[in-house]
Amino acid sequence: MDETNLTEPAQFVALQTTQPGSRSEAGFQRRTSMSLGIAVIGAGMAGKAHAAAFRTASTLYNPVLPPIRLVSIGDVNAEFGSHAARRFGYERSDTSWQAIAAADDIDVVSVVIANSLHREVVEGLLAAGKHVLCEKPLSDTLADARAMAEAARNARSIARIGYTFRRTPGIAYIRDLVQSGVLGKVLHFSGRYWTDYGSNPQAPMSWRYKGTAGSGALADVGSHLAYVAEFLCGDVRSVNGGQLSTVIGERPLPLGAVMGHDHAAVGDTFERVENDDYAAFSATFDQGVGSFEVSRVAAGHANSLIFEVFCENGAATFDQRRPAEIGLFLNDGASAQRGYRQVILGPEHPYIGGGLAMDAPSVGFGQNDAFGYQARAFLEEVAGIDQAASLPRNATFDDGVHNMELLDAVARSAQAGGSAVVVDSGKLASA
Ligand SMILES: NC(=O)c1ccc[n+]([C@@H]2O[C@H](COP(=O)([O-])OP(=O)(O)OC[C@H]3O[C@@H](n4cnc5c(N)ncnc54)[C@H](O)[C@@H]3O)[C@@H](O)[C@H]2O)c1
Repeated sequence: MDETNLTEPAQFVALQTTQPGSRSEAGFQRRTSMSLGIAVIGAGMAGKAHAAAFRTASTLYNPVLPPIRLVSIGDVNAEFGSHAARRFGYERSDTSWQAIAAADDIDVVSVVIANSLHREVVEGLLAAGKHVLCEKPLSDTLADARAMAEAARNARSIARIGYTFRRTPGIAYIRDLVQSGVLGKVLHFSGRYWTDYGSNPQAPMSWRYKGTAGSGALADVGSHLAYVAEFLCGDVRSVNGGQLSTVIGERPLPLGAVMGHDHAAVGDTFERVENDDYAAFSATFDQGVGSFEVSRVAAGHANSLIFEVFCENGAATFDQRRPAEIGLFLNDGASAQRGYRQVILGPEHPYIGGGLAMDAPSVGFGQNDAFGYQARAFLEEVAGIDQAASLPRNATFDDGVHNMELLDAVARSAQAGGSAVVVDSGKLASA
């Protein structure tokens, strides 16, 4: 479906299957025809965004989704789980993913926990017949990600990965401008994703600082930036100039549980930071070239995904600090009058018409809305709503593997002093 035209009526056909055999069990069909039971595993920073998104998903666009039952929030930290369940209106909380896998009243599960835990939980849920929406990156190692993609291919249920920024109206609109020929062929992409959650040396040790080369800032925010770049420009064929740097070598252990980037109280025991605070690389796309820079120590930039894409007919720019607008430059009109224009986003742009309660021009837009579109797209697919009448589908686990292959090539380039490395699969990122 054209991402600029999301207000067309969609018909909900409860038992129409898009994946033959995926909903063959009588019990599942009976439940799906009536309602979908939802669980979110992980009540941390992004888990809460998923919990809220499933709440709003059926309030977006036309009311064609089956009834959604918000069933459980799962977290090993009982307090986090129970607080999130009460806050977002879920029936209960669980402290083990196995309880969610075994629950008869749950059909759909978001997995929103540390990357190194994704494989075990996702495979267990798929084996139990649950539909799974996994957070990025697919895993902390390429081997585990490939195993998960294999499990997804063999599963009876649907497995998808959420790259939330593809749901950002400005980014989706720039893609439309490229693909419709208004901007035309991409020549050069320049992107950075700067964050500062690690810029204070007293920021507590957490799972984000553990893992192999490339599992730090490159995996955490570079996975988003790399996905967005391929979403706009097409496949990356090779990378070069890979650089990974750890600039704060150790961090204090927290005294209690840490959620997301919280600066919780710390003690005086320090542990080594194992992975990259900063990463940079250049890339060669099928057509065009690009440069990338990611950081978790860029003080003053809490969440700055910023890019500029230069094309044969002009250029466009996006800045997550001002997500309700894009910059557009077109090579048209008198050359003396050319310049970047500010385009404020509204209902003529992707996702917004019907996708916000008040969908008038210039009402603003935020990252949490994108989680709502992501959840909506997943529920539409699970409910068997025709693709042409749905939001664009979420990415596949194969796309998730491709994203990690690209990042792995960056890590190998860095290890080889910046040499060029061909990206393994060359599989197209999801459309
Ligand atoms: N799409 C986005 O914009 C976005 C943003 C942030 C994080 N993420 C992704 O979401 C995932 C989680 O990140 P986060 O920042 O929310 O982490 P977090 O540390 O804030 O939260 C993780 C939660 O998982 C819980 N947990 C740990 N082990 C568990 C287990 N075995 N079973 C159930 N719960 C367990 C922890 O208690 C914690 O509450 C990561 O994959 C991350 O890359 C995506």
